[in-house]
Amino acid sequence: MPLPVILDCDPGHDDAVAILLACASPELDVLGISTVAGNVPLEKTSKNALKICELAKLDHVRVYAGMSRPLVKELLTAEEVHGKSGLDGPDLPVPKRRLEPKHSVDFITEELLSHKEPITLIPTGPLTNIAMALVREPRIRNHIREIVLMGGAIAEGNTTPAAEFNIYVDPHAADIVFRSGVPVTMIGLDVTHQALVLPDRLQRIRDLGSHTALVVAGLIEFFQEHHRVKYGMAGPPLHDPCAVAAVVDRTLFQFKKMHVAIELEGRLTQGRTVCDLWNVTGNPVNSEVALSIDAPRFFDLLISRLAKYP
Ligand code: BDR
Ligand code: CA
Repeated sequence: MPLPVILDCDPGHDDAVAILLACASPELDVLGISTVAGNVPLEKTSKNALKICELAKLDHVRVYAGMSRPLVKELLTAEEVHGKSGLDGPDLPVPKRRLEPKHSVDFITEELLSHKEPITLIPTGPLTNIAMALVREPRIRNHIREIVLMGGAIAEGNTTPAAEFNIYVDPHAADIVFRSGVPVTMIGLDVTHQALVLPDRLQRIRDLGSHTALVVAGLIEFFQEHHRVKYGMAGPPLHDPCAVAAVVDRTLFQFKKMHVAIELEGRLTQGRTVCDLWNVTGNPVNSEVALSIDAPRFFDLLISRLAKYP
């Protein structure tokens, strides 16, 4: 039986690829896509989710818009990474499809409470929608199988030296999620920086030859420029698809169980995921943190799933 999942995202180039990976994976039943403000404001992340669904002819996948700003902080966006639209690069038509009329926090809550089995949440943006749902309706905790999120890092930052973008944008939401008691799997930068789209991998995507694959290749080409100039990487990291892959096939990763806390105040460290790798605090485990990924197998999976699209 496919695992019921909800994608909560801020597309975003890598979010777009995460949507495509999830929706082409028979192991998953995607109940809907929820959007949040992050890489660009909410109106654009929502429009981008619709664009990707139209591109890939995912007519049955519904898109719900959620929180337009973080819980406490002002919204910080990442146009320098994703361009003005949030999905710069190939020209994607203005979507004809519309958003669902329901707020995504309502969608997530109602879906969790009514579904016959627990649902896995896969957030790949700031955790604002998930935190809001948990605070507003704590009963949903027992209906979440697991939260498998892209965010944080054991040992590095990409927005500040200490913090990763998704956690830095809404650390208060991340704090609520990590303290919620729901099992969390954290796919952080330590791992996603091992999942680089090297030139031969990009060529394999291009060689699929379909319209969707060529658009994905174009998106990756845009995304790679920032990572080349800013971080000197040989290819862009596919952060968000790693979180989806961890639900599709957990054996792609090595994990360690540990306690993760979110730094809310630090003068230099706000948004840091403080990972107690050696359990020096004695705090109980609240997360499984990915330590490494089998990148060749991850790209085999991704490319085989992209091959299904027209
Ligand atoms: C995360 O930040 C966003 O820019 C990406 O979409 C990804 O979710 C990586 O730090
Ligand atoms: Ca994202």
